[in-house]
Amino acid sequence: MSSFLVGGGRQLKGEVRVSGSKNSSLPVLAAALLTDDEVVVHGLPSIADVHTMLEVLQHLGCRVQWEKETIVIQPRIKRTEAPYELVKRMRASFYVSGPLLGRVKRAEVPLPGGCVIGSRPVDFHIQAFRQLGAKVKLEYGYMKAKAAKLHGARVYLDPRWCSVGTTINIILASVLCEGETTIENAARDPEILDLVSFLRKMGSDIRGETTSTLVVKGVKRLNGCEHHIIGDRIEAGTYLCAAAMTGGDVTVAHSPPEFMRTEIEKFREVGCEVEEKKEAIRLRRKGPLHSLDLITAPYPGFPTDLQPSFVSVLSKADGASVVEETIHDSRFRYVDELRRMGANVRRVDNTAVIKGVRKLLGAPVEASDLRAGAALVVAGLAAEGRTEVLCGEHIDRGYEDFEGKLRRLGADIERVP
Ligand code: EPU
Repeated sequence: MSSFLVGGGRQLKGEVRVSGSKNSSLPVLAAALLTDDEVVVHGLPSIADVHTMLEVLQHLGCRVQWEKETIVIQPRIKRTEAPYELVKRMRASFYVSGPLLGRVKRAEVPLPGGCVIGSRPVDFHIQAFRQLGAKVKLEYGYMKAKAAKLHGARVYLDPRWCSVGTTINIILASVLCEGETTIENAARDPEILDLVSFLRKMGSDIRGETTSTLVVKGVKRLNGCEHHIIGDRIEAGTYLCAAAMTGGDVTVAHSPPEFMRTEIEKFREVGCEVEEKKEAIRLRRKGPLHSLDLITAPYPGFPTDLQPSFVSVLSKADGASVVEETIHDSRFRYVDELRRMGANVRRVDNTAVIKGVRKLLGAPVEASDLRAGAALVVAGLAAEGRTEVLCGEHIDRGYEDFEGKLRRLGADIERVP
């Protein structure tokens, strides 16, 4: 258990390089199970979730060697059952079910269950596996799937969600199966494009990943490859929120603006100057923050994962803002903590109404999840006095060296055990 002590009032200034994307690294690592050859991945972030995925791969039989930001995997499948302790720790462990099914036609993976940001079932994944020809039983808390043979299918996803995880698991299960699989309303997040680029290097045949109809043509075998993970756009967005919040001037590097179009427009609307560079984004704020309305939506809409930090920014804006969360059904839990810092936020179901206040006051607050924790730190950076964000280990799931990077931008932040 650790917490972060944040002193408010310093303007953040300078450049920060974001780490490799968490939500890109996790499926790419799972996809290594699709080959027998060596896989080399560069630019992985050293965060708890990546370590958990590596533990899952090792449990299944893979040999893993990690040096600095590069990992070398010798993929082997000696077991087809993932352990509950690991899947419980991280829902994305469920990503191994697709490649296990695709490769050895058998997967036994615990059902991940609910989590603090919402109920988050895996029914879409299971339905898709069945459409690909797998027999799936739910027994003793496990999803047990097997197939004599998988075949291509046409899978329709609900356009309201364009489920990221389901898109990933269908791709991973179908790249080695016979025939063609079409995913309608597929997610087209940058992390999906990164996974497709990785799978292409392995020899897979995938088309349409920048559109909502993604087509996978099964191939007989996949080879090893070498890949660089893209930068983490949510981490980038978090530092931009911190800059906006403190009236600072921050450049996030390893962060192409084309992956953050909607966020950039929202930062401008809230009163920031944003400069788009080739692989970097610079944000400056000199004047007051303005209120705005915001709805989270599947990519390219505003990302739910940045919603909490953006609400922190809006808590100090002039006027009233309305933020609607449409992806996860319980992602406003941190609002009660923000209120303890003096924010004026009222929540009605999945909508938050934020009336900007002139000042926030530091307070002890508790992070309920990764993005909630980041949002409370962002708020603390612009609050009067000291904020202690408890349960900081949530932040370690997705942010590499969070306090170090913020400190280098001038923040007063330290980790306390
Ligand atoms: N859903 C179902 N059934 C399913 C799958 C999804 O009802 O079988 C619902 C979910 O409950 C949710 C919605 O569909 O309400 C969208 O879920 P999606 O499948 O898109 O989310 P995910 O794959 O579980 C990933 C990210 C999340 C991010 C969401 C949305 C990873 C490892 N996780 O989750 O990231 O919020 O997409 O963009 O990629 C985070 O990084 O903090 C995080 C939570």
